[in-house]
Amino acid sequence: MVTRAVTELSPGMVLAEDVLTPGGRFLMPRGTVLDVGHLKSLLAWNLAEVRVAGEASPCPDAPAAAAPDAAQGRPDVLEAAEAAVRERFACCILAASPCDVLFRLALDREVRRRLAEGVPAGEGGEDRSWRMIESEPGHLAMDALLRDEPQLVSPPEVYLRISAVLGDPASTVEDAAESIKHDPSLAAKLLRLVNSSYYARTMRAMRGRFPAKIDSLSRAVTVVGARQLATLALGVSVLPLFQDIPQNWVNMRLFWEHSVGCAAAAQALAEATGLVNPETAFVAGLLHDIGRIIAFKQAPAHMAAAMRRAEAEGCPLYLAEREVLGFDHAALGGHLLQKWQFPANLEKMVRYHHDLDEPFIIDEPAVVHLADVVATAMGWGGSGNRRLPAVDPAAWAALGLTGEALAALVPGMEDRLADTMRSFFPDHQGPL
Ligand SMILES: [Fe+2]
Ligand SMILES: [Fe+2]
Repeated sequence: MVTRAVTELSPGMVLAEDVLTPGGRFLMPRGTVLDVGHLKSLLAWNLAEVRVAGEASPCPDAPAAAAPDAAQGRPDVLEAAEAAVRERFACCILAASPCDVLFRLALDREVRRRLAEGVPAGEGGEDRSWRMIESEPGHLAMDALLRDEPQLVSPPEVYLRISAVLGDPASTVEDAAESIKHDPSLAAKLLRLVNSSYYARTMRAMRGRFPAKIDSLSRAVTVVGARQLATLALGVSVLPLFQDIPQNWVNMRLFWEHSVGCAAAAQALAEATGLVNPETAFVAGLLHDIGRIIAFKQAPAHMAAAMRRAEAEGCPLYLAEREVLGFDHAALGGHLLQKWQFPANLEKMVRYHHDLDEPFIIDEPAVVHLADVVATAMGWGGSGNRRLPAVDPAAWAALGLTGEALAALVPGMEDRLADTMRSFFPDHQGPL
């Protein structure tokens, strides 16, 4: 019988003792033959080590981090950045893809950010006043949360018009533009988005057919495609419903940076893998955590208890939410999108981004799952998690990417994040 760090376990090993969560609850019995699901669960609960049967054998160590070029001559900055990033990656196997490449990229970004801003950013900017609420209420019903919020009972009118266009295979360019133009704020956001570098490649490919700046919805439809623009409009049209959360609970700037970062990453992953339409992936990334906003607004005491529990046990927020509320923010967001009759694949991408064991086909949720991992790993905004949740091996396999292929996509994702933040929040100043 030997003691093994959880990050050094591999499928096929056998537990020599019962495993309990850090809070003392029973997790797995002695004699369990570990499979990938067990390893995910142990990592998710942030357990440091377990006792397994058999002899100790050498395990790969976490690779020593190569010092980013930007840190030359600043060992103090490198040391502080590496400590912060190692803490963020504490639940990940650093010797395996994609965590190995994400760690290297995250360290590089953290060094650059500290050199530019002089202070750590990201999760550190989250308000911590939820610690003041000490009760631990019982489980809730998802429907009750949505029923009690009049804004969520039905979607905005413009959404219904766009939805009708999407649902009609015979819809035309004019129908798509018409459905959007009555909402000037939505139309302006979409035009800014289409004029960002987001569609720069398409516009370059169409050089000569369009002016340098797209200034009308009908031209935007021609560049992006009617259904694609309607899908983008669907996601953007509901954003105003998720803006007015008390700032002492969630830092909304960090929330949207994380969401837009996930959207940019999901879109790039969709383009690279062909697993889903890029605009659908973008909207799914944008809305993937809206359940967190609904829960904070409708059940603040529950969410405070979940955040306290996640911090005390070192587990991801979604697992603590399941314990405290009876469901997680992904299921709540998916439930709302289902009630609003969002396209089924988009709803599933939101609903299962933390639960890849559930859907029969995981290709589409895998895109949002990995995009969320990338956004959290890179420290884009605030995900509500101090530590990066473990990467689902099946999701990583479904994408069919190598670590280096993913690494090559990340700079483009970061550019899209900055561009899209400027499109949606014109007052926003980079760097993020
Ligand atoms: Fe999430
Ligand atoms: Fe997230």
